[in-house]
Amino acid sequence: MKVLVIGSGGREHMIVKKLKQSNKVTDIYAAPGNGGIATEATCVPIQDDAIEELVQFAVENDINWTIVGPEIPLSKGIVNAFRSNNLKIFGPSKEAAIIEGSKDFAKAFMKQYDIPTAKYQTFTDVKAAINYIKQEGAPIVVKADGLAAGKGVVVAMTEEEAIEAVENMLLHNQFGDSGSRVVIEEFLDGKEFSLFAFVEGENVYPMIPARDHKRAFDGDKGPNTGGMGSYSPVPDLDPKHVAFTIEKILKPVAKGMVKEGHPYTGVLYGGLIVTKEGPKVIEFNARFGDPETQVVLPQLENDLIQVIEDVTSGKDPQLKWKDGFTIGTVVASKGYPGPYHKNVRLPELEDSSDVYVIHAGTKLMDDGGFVSTGGRVLLIGTTQETPEKAQQKIEEYLKRFDQTDDFFYRKDIGQSIEKPIIVASI
Ligand code: AMP
Ligand code: GLY
Repeated sequence: MKVLVIGSGGREHMIVKKLKQSNKVTDIYAAPGNGGIATEATCVPIQDDAIEELVQFAVENDINWTIVGPEIPLSKGIVNAFRSNNLKIFGPSKEAAIIEGSKDFAKAFMKQYDIPTAKYQTFTDVKAAINYIKQEGAPIVVKADGLAAGKGVVVAMTEEEAIEAVENMLLHNQFGDSGSRVVIEEFLDGKEFSLFAFVEGENVYPMIPARDHKRAFDGDKGPNTGGMGSYSPVPDLDPKHVAFTIEKILKPVAKGMVKEGHPYTGVLYGGLIVTKEGPKVIEFNARFGDPETQVVLPQLENDLIQVIEDVTSGKDPQLKWKDGFTIGTVVASKGYPGPYHKNVRLPELEDSSDVYVIHAGTKLMDDGGFVSTGGRVLLIGTTQETPEKAQQKIEEYLKRFDQTDDFFYRKDIGQSIEKPIIVASI
């Protein structure tokens, strides 16, 4: 089988690594891929949202399956385009990906199908939004309706911050069209977790829970980032909250999308928070999460392409999970999420039997070495019997980055941290 993976980050490198374990897969292509992916698959220089070119590539190269990593091509209709060319692709249609693409849609949908989430209202008018903020008081959360690369959420601790966020989005077009509508919602307090499921129509096959560390520095301090590491499973999570999430959140979403006439196919990502009243939805994503995928897939025993074939043909994929605890720590460029240097040479990297290396922002050089090309550069992961052992292995591996001043990483990934009060910077 020939498989094409769309995207260029750590999530896509993990998907490629997982596909390499399959004895059904003979050729793996990635568009556009990255330095690490280039050592394991054929990188094709086509951007992840150049849909026509991707269709053409898949037709010309007899690609049997395409797996989509990021949200933008999904929202732009890559799945619709592939399907209308009779190409197999795993991901939701443009109409189903709206569960991530529009927060207003997601909130209205949850209300209609009784899915627990924060109370909210949607606004396009600044005055009405400000009145609502004054009426509800702080803390309160302001969200751009559309896709904003994870930056469109402001958890405001004061009314002034919330008003500023609304003005930035509605008046100053901070996120362009994505912010021309805002959702203002109740602040929820509790610990967060992510739960992904493979979905086809009404069938939902949950994966194991994970937790992302979004803040830049140890102790959950510093600015929000795309994620500085993650771990899976989540020891402080009560199994009854996981069961509730599957039965009362993920399954009703799948059923609801069928009822809406837009059945969902692909990975559904639930971003959840365990409040005093139980789990509530913070957001849905229409794809695998990054960096959670880099700690969830290593524990999946099944062949990923077989899972996709089973799920999409209405069969239970019988997911099996390895025992153990997986930690993935991100190595980032010094300065990230602010400005940082690129093209910095990386130290020697090798996968060992204990530790795996996932590339997010790297380029492969002619001599086989790598240079950095992004804010998040690598993720170093390991699965061990206990969190302590996993932390120790990661710590040993990461020492090689201590000699340089060009990179940094968090030393506390894998420790369960109380949710901080965040004022997201935008
Ligand atoms: P998102 O970009 O949607 O993942 O949101 C970023 C972060 O904002 C989440 O991980 C939460 O920590 C926080 N957040 C979003 N919505 C809420 C809410 N209603 N209450 C409290 N925190 C929230
Ligand atoms: N880990 C958050 C996301 O993938 O959106």
